[in-house]
Amino acid sequence: MVARAEALERAFGGAPHLVAYATKANSSATVIRALTGAGLGVDVVSGGELALARACGVRAEKIVMSGVGKRDDELDRALGERIFALQAESVEELSRIADRARALGVGARVTFRIKPGVEIDSHAHISTGHDAAKFGVALADLAAAWAVVDGRPELTAVGVSAHVGSNLADTAPYEATARIVCDVAKARLAGGHTLEYVNFGGGFGIDYDGRTDAPEPAVFVDAALTVLRDAGLAQLTLLMEPGRSLVAPFGVLLARIVQTKVSGERRWVVLDAGMNDLVRPALYQAHHRIELLSSPPADTEWRVVGPVCESSDDFGYHPLGDAPSGLVAIRDAGAYGFVMACEYNGRPLPAELFLRGGELVHTSPSQGVDSWVARRLEA
Ligand code: LLP
Repeated sequence: MVARAEALERAFGGAPHLVAYATKANSSATVIRALTGAGLGVDVVSGGELALARACGVRAEKIVMSGVGKRDDELDRALGERIFALQAESVEELSRIADRARALGVGARVTFRIKPGVEIDSHAHISTGHDAAKFGVALADLAAAWAVVDGRPELTAVGVSAHVGSNLADTAPYEATARIVCDVAKARLAGGHTLEYVNFGGGFGIDYDGRTDAPEPAVFVDAALTVLRDAGLAQLTLLMEPGRSLVAPFGVLLARIVQTKVSGERRWVVLDAGMNDLVRPALYQAHHRIELLSSPPADTEWRVVGPVCESSDDFGYHPLGDAPSGLVAIRDAGAYGFVMACEYNGRPLPAELFLRGGELVHTSPSQGVDSWVARRLEA
């Protein structure tokens, strides 16, 4: 994770930039501290993530806040902390930010996320730039958004943002988005206003199947810098918000084979980890490679399933050989893994182990069954 973050930082050369790691991908303090220690800022989407980032020692001027439904108390926290920018998702939210800033007697550094109408080749659940998406300000509403910004003295517009979705397999939709953001920024500057940054979002994909070559995050940086220079906006800070690409490939979900089950031609491997620990296969039909720790992949394919009482608790087919047993690693679980885990079926959250240079550096306290029972007894 750290090496990848450092490579990303280097890719900017001397260009002014802020890489705001999207903490939603993996919000463990160990990860946040490691990545911000490598020079990154953070993108947060709730008061909780903001409080966590501050508790991890992230400086306010390296924090941006996104999110389609920030409550007043969350806006108040962000305004009180004087973060780098509040990224609004609607014309209405810009007004509410101004109201909260006035109530607190502070100024608000804002940007708004535009909805550029760019379609991406990714799962529908993680595609956010198309016209029907709940996110962002439609291009047709741009004038209304600038009118709020210009009409409210509490607001200072510092940037223009977009984020068209997640797990992008190539840079084309990112570049298309970047060009639209740059057009909006240029029009704003031409009107005699100032801007500090443009933000083309995150969404850099990773290679879940181990075969295709998803571009490294640094390739997205090159593409973004090229668009920015071509637009004549190289003086602006380039902000980006990668989450998955910085953390996904560097985490595994370790599980134990509870048993195998054979019926005629059908073969299942039943694990002690399920959709409550890693929901991506159930939610996005994602395929995470699964490997036995004790032996390399072998020909015989098994349908690997979890223990949860849902048919969607299914990790798909994996080549695990004739008699799989012991521990398996479910790959690429470093992003949107633990953060999306839940305790469905009375299954406590997994423990988290962190390694640096092959050494175990931290273990989160594990939550046993007793804790779950105690909390449900209170309900
Ligand atoms: N910025 C904004 C405004 C976002 O909404 C997101 C992700 C990111 C940045 C970071 O995107 P990334 O670089 O991680 O693709 N749970 C889903 C992914 C949901 C992404 C939500 N927004 C999954 O497991 O595929």
